[in-house]
Amino acid sequence: MPAISFQSVSKTYQVARGGALRALADVTFDIEEGEFFGLLGPNGAGKTTLISILAGLARPTSGRVAVRGFDVQSQYASARRQLGVVPQELVFDPFFNVREALRIQSGYFGLARNDAWIDELLESLGLADKADANMRQLSGGMKRRVLVAQALVHKPPVIVLDEPTAGVDVELRQTLWQFIARLNREGHTVLLTTHYLEEAEALCGRIAMLQSGRVVALERTSELLRAASSNVLRFKVDGELPPQFAARARVTGRIVQLPAHDALEIERWLAEIREAGLRVEDVEIRKADLEDVFLDVMSQNRQPAEAA
Ligand SMILES: Nc1ncnc2c1ncn2[C@@H]1O[C@H](COP(=O)(O)OP(=O)(O)OP(=O)(O)O)[C@@H](O)[C@H]1O
Ligand SMILES: [Mg+2]
Repeated sequence: MPAISFQSVSKTYQVARGGALRALADVTFDIEEGEFFGLLGPNGAGKTTLISILAGLARPTSGRVAVRGFDVQSQYASARRQLGVVPQELVFDPFFNVREALRIQSGYFGLARNDAWIDELLESLGLADKADANMRQLSGGMKRRVLVAQALVHKPPVIVLDEPTAGVDVELRQTLWQFIARLNREGHTVLLTTHYLEEAEALCGRIAMLQSGRVVALERTSELLRAASSNVLRFKVDGELPPQFAARARVTGRIVQLPAHDALEIERWLAEIREAGLRVEDVEIRKADLEDVFLDVMSQNRQPAEAA
């Protein structure tokens, strides 16, 4: 039995002036028990909508979702118990301190004596010295750590993280991933969304990519990278890149990255840049990474926005 099963899930939101927005269109895939699974996609692709349906917070327009065999609508309580969800939005109760918030959350799941695990969570997430601080007194990154701890108080077999590292500093990102990876080794299934593609590449065994509510890629991470298997030419330029490059290039300030399959293509790019009158420095060639694959998949599947 899969840990999570999405069957033909569609979601249409009613929007202003009688309009409709199709956030998810016929999403179907399973996540197996014990997987570390990545759900990627640009802003507005439908990731949070899919997670909200999974968590029973939103109803699908059609389709079914089950967590370890429990239907998220007709067997809501059983399905919910299997899940720990770290939401994308920072939501918290300003009246409690960190430890109280975690005790209350434990209470929702009928766990009266949970302090040993709460202490371990506080320790693992770098919150031990904030246990008595009021939620209002925490920084944004610390609040996010509390959300992670809250999601894990009942040791859920399926852990869902909706951009858990947004706004989190480098050190905590590492601690967090060590902790989540440990839980995954111990058998917990993990579903992760993130815009940090190097995190997804390092952590996820399989990846689904959503675009405009549709699954446009679903593959083992190693397969995605192998299928791309091209090189990337990376260099700095001393001026503005002419438009014919813009469609193919990934540009960050002066740094330009272009996909190139072989030496010939690399030579051709460099010649064209030279002809455009630009000076190239710090040239480097590397293997395509997940971000390159992602941009490639997205550009191949781009289509005009469709009405529901
Ligand atoms: N409650 C809502 N009412 C109307 N439209 C909504 C609602 N929630 C989300 N949407 C729309 O549904 C689409 C998908 O949104 P969603 O939040 O699922 O995207 P996402 O993939 O999580 O994006 P991000 O990476 O920015 O978090 C967007 O076009 C969004 O504007
Ligand atoms: Mg989202």
